[in-house]
This record gives sequence, structure tokens and C-alpha cells, in this order.
Amino acid sequence: MSDLSTEEIKILEGLSKEEILAKLKSEAEEQHKSRKTFFGRDIISIHELSREGILHILKHSKGMKETPQPDLLQGYVMGSCFFEPSTRTRLSFETAMSRLGGKIIGFAEAGVTSAKKKETLYDSMKIIGQYVDVIAMRHPMEGAAQRAAEATDKPILNGGDGSNQHPTQTLLDLFTIQECQGKLDNLNIAMIGDLKYGRTVHSLAQALTNFNATLSFVAPESLQMPNYICDDLDKHGVKYTLYEKIADVVSSADILYMTRIQEERFPDKMEYEKIKNTYVLDSKMLISAKPNMRIMHPLPRVNEIATDVDHTPHAYYFEQAHNGLYVRQALLGLVLGKLT
Ligand code: CP
Repeated sequence: MSDLSTEEIKILEGLSKEEILAKLKSEAEEQHKSRKTFFGRDIISIHELSREGILHILKHSKGMKETPQPDLLQGYVMGSCFFEPSTRTRLSFETAMSRLGGKIIGFAEAGVTSAKKKETLYDSMKIIGQYVDVIAMRHPMEGAAQRAAEATDKPILNGGDGSNQHPTQTLLDLFTIQECQGKLDNLNIAMIGDLKYGRTVHSLAQALTNFNATLSFVAPESLQMPNYICDDLDKHGVKYTLYEKIADVVSSADILYMTRIQEERFPDKMEYEKIKNTYVLDSKMLISAKPNMRIMHPLPRVNEIATDVDHTPHAYYFEQAHNGLYVRQALLGLVLGKLT
């Protein structure tokens, strides 16, 4: 109580015991969301990060890009637990750890682990948590990262759980947007393709509730943004519009965020065959774009961005993938308490 101001004591005196407990809980949650508590923390969903927390991570990511820190994580070990295929997320996490002086153990597919002998995810992660200081993971099941966090006290960095969340991708997306637009606030951002199963667009749309974005969702009706994300946007007063054609959004967008139609997430393969070629962006479609409009894509791409776009000034997806290294370095440093 001695740390409280007179004003704060006055407020507490007017509250019931239940109200005080609710207030303390809400303040603890806010503090948890704030940047002060990254040490030891899991990054499961972008939803858990405040604007201040996001900006703090991006500041450290920029620092990592500008100034390498080859000894920062010397003596630390990262578990790299990928139960689902990945190129960028796994290799950038592993490179990040390695370039900070740390070591890595892990696996790139579930088939070489005791999951094949029906070990539960909970048991696997509890054991791995005893070997390492931090775990980067990907799993095909929604909620897997949360389950892992329940199994171990070591920080879990979610590199994608089914079609649910991909928060470290979102942080590198935000870093990239800030880098190429010079700001994060008040931008027009169009998301195109598989918005139903695309975890990257789910996390990004939720993150942008912090930055007064105007969003455009371009998808066939069957792949539009899920209601639970739209409800969240409504709750935060975010402006968004649904479209079916890329041409409707090219001239107004600051960012065109393309996504792959993900064959592996379709329960009905016939449905995938019908939809797979709906959106193919080529350089001719960019004539009305703003000069500083940038095209992003979490990658991998199949055919949704023609290779002739790669040579236009609008292409920014390779730089985006590169930035993953610095953002993941910052996250590792923060959750291991070596950055504050
Ligand atoms: N963007 C992304 O998650 O790529 P990978 O699937 O290659 O990790």
C-alpha cells in the first residue's frame, strides 16, 4: 500500500473487496501485456501483446538489424520443435539463436520423435523443457503452443499452430511494414487469398487493431476472414471491407498482403481445386498502385504472385522474410532476459 498515491488509495477505499481483486487482476494482466515482463514469457498469440509491447519488440529488432550481438546468448540452448514443415520460421529461429552465440537442439518433423510412438504433446514438451532454456515450435493442431506452455515453465515461442496463430510472423510483418512505410499507424492494408485458414492474416489483423489500420479482405466467400476475427475488429472499432477482386483494392492500398491458398488445410480437395487459381497477381495489375505501395507475402508462394512482380519496386516479400531473423533474435533476447 505504501507505494500507492493518495489518489489511488482514495479509489481503492471506495471499492468492495471483490472490486479490488478484479482491479488488481486486470492491472496484473495489463502489466503482463506490457513490455516490462518479457523475461520468461511465452509468445503464443499476438492478442496478448499491447501496442507498447509490440513497439518495444520492434525497437529491439531494429537494434539487432543495425548492431549484431554475437555473444548475447552464449551458454543458452534453444529447442527447435517443428512438428510441421517450415523453411523460414525454423531456419530463421535457428540462425537467430546461432548468430547470438546460443546452441540449438531439435527436430524438423514429428516422425523422428516419440510422437510417432503416441507420446502426448504435453509429455514431449515437459521433457524438452528440462533440456533447454527456450522453445520455438510449430504444430499442425490449433492450441498446441498453449498446451506446450502448460507443460513447461520455459518460454514457448509459437511458430504457428494449425490455422490459429503465427505471432512471430506477425511481428516480422509489422517490422517490415514500419520499415517500408516509415510508420505503422493509419495505413490501408489489403489481405488477399486464404483468409479463412491463414494464421498469418488472423494474427496480423488482430495486431493492427493497435494501429488504426483500414483493412480490406479480398477472398472468395468460402475463404473470407472468420467471424471471430471480424467480431474482434468490430469490438476495437477497426474499419474493414470485404471484396472478391484484387482490382478493387490495388489503387488504395499501402500494403498488399498476399497469401497462398493452402491445399493442406482443405478438408475437401475438390474445393481446393476449384479455388486454387483465383488470385494471381502480375505486374500488369499494379499500374494504378501508389508509388510506395509494397507487396508482402509470408511465403512460401505457389502461383499467387507471378515472378514478373519480383522485379517491380513494389515487391518486398524477400526483405520481409529476411527481417524474420532480426525479430526472432530480439524475441529470444527478450524472453531470456538478456534484453530489457
Ligand atoms: N512464413 C512462414 O511461416 O514460412 P515457413 O512455413 O517456411 O516457416
